[in-house]
Amino acid sequence: MCTFIRRMRISHLNTARWLSTSRTNNMKVSVLGAAGGIGQPLSLLLKQSPLISHLALYDIVNTPGVAADLSHINTSTIVTSHTESPELYHCLKDADLVVIPAGVPRKPGMTRDDLFTTNASIVKHLATGCAEHCPNAFICIIANPVNSTVPITAEVFKDNGVYNPKKIFGVTTLDIVRANTFVAVSKDLDVNQVSIPVVGGHAGVTILPLLSQAKPTVNFSNEELTTLTTRIQNAGTEVVEAKAGQGSATLSMAYAGARFVFSLLRAAQGERGISECAFVESTVVPELPYFSTPLLLGKEGIAQNFGLGKLSDFEKKGLEALIPELSKNIEKGIRFNKFE
Ligand code: NAI
Repeated sequence: MCTFIRRMRISHLNTARWLSTSRTNNMKVSVLGAAGGIGQPLSLLLKQSPLISHLALYDIVNTPGVAADLSHINTSTIVTSHTESPELYHCLKDADLVVIPAGVPRKPGMTRDDLFTTNASIVKHLATGCAEHCPNAFICIIANPVNSTVPITAEVFKDNGVYNPKKIFGVTTLDIVRANTFVAVSKDLDVNQVSIPVVGGHAGVTILPLLSQAKPTVNFSNEELTTLTTRIQNAGTEVVEAKAGQGSATLSMAYAGARFVFSLLRAAQGERGISECAFVESTVVPELPYFSTPLLLGKEGIAQNFGLGKLSDFEKKGLEALIPELSKNIEKGIRFNKFE
C-alpha cells in the first residue's frame, strides 16, 4: 500500500475514533470567554485531557489565535475557534459541558458585586445560547458575581423551559483549593492529603470554610480559626491587590476550573464516588434557594447533596452572618432576569 493511502487510512481511522459516539471519552467541552486571563490557561489544561475529544473555544476577541496556538499541541483533542454571536451556535451545538469564564474581572477596591452591571448581561446572553443550543449540557459558571450569575442562568433556562437544577453549577472550587493550601501550610501538612469543604457562596463573608470538618482532623485555636477563615474569604482580594490593576486570579482559577470540569466529566462517564463543592439550587438553608455544599456527582449531574454536616459554634455564627448578604445577591440575579 502506498504511504499516501496508508496515511489517509490512518487519518480516517483517527477521525472516526474522535467522532465515534461509542467512545467513553467522546466529550465536547465549550469554553465561553476562552481568550481571557482564565480562559486561556483553562483551555490549555483541558486540551491535555484524554476525556475531551472536542474543545470548542468562543470569545468576542482573539479566539482564532488562541485556538491556532492550542491546536498545535500533540494531544488528540480537536480544537475549534468561534467568534461573533452567530458562531455561538456552532460552539455550543452537541456540547456535553460548557464552562463560562466570560466577563470582566475585579480591579483593586472592587467587590465581586461591582461586576454585576457588566457581567450579568454577558452571562444572560451566553446562558440563553446554552439554553437554546445545548440544553442538556452541564453548565459551569465561573463569571462573577457567581452568587448572582448562577440564579441568572437558572432563570434563563426556566424561561426556555429546559431547566435542570442538577446540571447548573457555580464554580467555587478555587475556595476549596485555597483552603486546602492555606491549612496545609499553616499546619505543616501534606497538601495532597488535606480536604476542606467550603460552603455558602463565592464572595467575602458568604464564603464559609468548614474547618471543623477538615480531613485529616486538625485542631485549630480560636485565633487560627479567625485568621484562616478571614484569609480564605479574602484570598481573591489578595490576588487582585498583588496584580495591582491587571486583573484577578487567573492561573489558580484555571487549575480549579479544570479540576471541577474533570470531576464532572469523570462522573458523567460513570466513575463513582466523585464529590465536589459547588454553588447550586439547594434546600439546605431554607432562606437561600442557591447554596454551595459538597455534592456527589453522577452521570446526570448532582446525584446527592451532602448538606452541611455538623457545624461548630464558630461556623454556625458564620452561617448566620452570611444569610442576609447571600440572599441579597441571589435575589439580585433573579430580579435581573425578570426585569432586564
Ligand atoms: P478577562 O477579562 O481576562 O477575560 C474575560 C474574557 O471574556 C475576555 O477574553 C473577553 O473578551 C471575554 N468576553 C467578554 N464578553 C464576552 C461575551 N459576550 N462572550 C464571550 N466572551 C466574552 O477576565 P478573567 O480574569 O478571565 O475573569 C473572567 C471572570 O471570571 C471574571 O468575571 C472574574 O471575576 C471571574 N472569576 C471567577 C472566579 C471564581 O472562583 N468563580 C475566580 C476568578 C475570577
